[in-house]
Formats: sequence, structure tokens, C-alpha cells
Amino acid sequence: MTLIAPDPLRPHEECVAVPEAFDAGLWFIGRIRTPWTQRADCPRRGDPAGGPDCRIELDARWLSALDGVAGKDRMQVLYWMHLSRRDIVRQNPFFGDGSLGTFALRSPLRPNPIASSLVRLLHVAGNVLTVRGLDCIDGTPLVDLKPEFGILP
Ligand SMILES: C[S@@+](CC[C@H](N)C(=O)[O-])C[C@H]1O[C@@H](n2cnc3c(N)ncnc32)[C@H](O)[C@@H]1O
Repeated sequence: MTLIAPDPLRPHEECVAVPEAFDAGLWFIGRIRTPWTQRADCPRRGDPAGGPDCRIELDARWLSALDGVAGKDRMQVLYWMHLSRRDIVRQNPFFGDGSLGTFALRSPLRPNPIASSLVRLLHVAGNVLTVRGLDCIDGTPLVDLKPEFGILP
């Protein structure tokens, strides 16, 4: 399997051999438009209050699936960190003298590089949603949109 843009490992980091084949497929359902063109320019975490307005451009074929979304205050956005290496199991995110397991981190480097953010929904116009609270580079593929969870019991 070819790894996309494998970042070099830092001290204390560890990677593994990945499986020969994928277990499932997915469709990118749109693209996310943000002001950031490089990973280093992105915030580590989106800011739904003070972050910049970003656009989610849903592919037109899924337009009907947006019915009921306009008027919601917050949405969960799932997106595919397409520039991430996917074989890394221990990471040293702050260039320290140790590392943590991938599943203890919200790093974009993971076996299935799915990111999620809870965003503030500003408005919906056709297949374009304007939101605040994202942290990905311009052109990042969109995987899913879901309403925010209600309050847990
Ligand atoms: C720490 S992750 C958090 C992602 C998401 N909010 C989460 O918690 O699942 C955000 C970082 O991922 C990196 N990043 C942004 N877009 C990316 C992309 N398309 N592919 C790989 N890495 C990306 C940037 O360095 C950004 O600061």
C-alpha cells in the first residue's frame, strides 16, 4: 500500500506495517474550503466562536440529504485528513522526550485519518454550508455531516 506524503518519524515514534487491503470503501461527499493552504498554518483545534468562516461544499447529488439541516445551531463534521501517514502507532506531537499512543491523541495521523469537529452552523445556501470551527487545510475531503448530540443522561 502506498502511504501519502509520509512525514518523517520523530524520536520515540513508531510505525507498523499496514494491512494489505482495505476492509471498506467510502465516498468523499464534498470538500471543505478554509483559509489555510498548509498544515502548519491550521489551528490545532477549530474555534467555533472566534475562528474564521469556512465553507463546506457538498456534492450536488447529496443535496436532498441536507433537508432539515438549515436552522440548526451546531453540526458535527467528519472529514478525511488526506495528507496523513497512516502507519504510526506512537507519536511525539510536541517534539518531547517521549511518545503517546495514537489513540490517546487527536492527531490527524491515524490508521483511518478521520477528523471530527463540532462547528457552529452560520447558514446554508443550496449545497454550501458556512460554518465556524474547522481546523483543516483548504480542499480537505468531507466524509459526513451529523447534527450535534443531545445532552447525555
Ligand atoms: C490536531 S488535528 C484535529 C482534527 C479534528 N479537530 C479532530 O479533533 O479530530 C488538526 C491538525 O491537522 C492537520 N491537518 C489539517 N488538515 C489536514 C489534512 N487535510 N491532512 C492531514 N493533516 C491535516 C493540521 O496540522 C491541523 O492543525
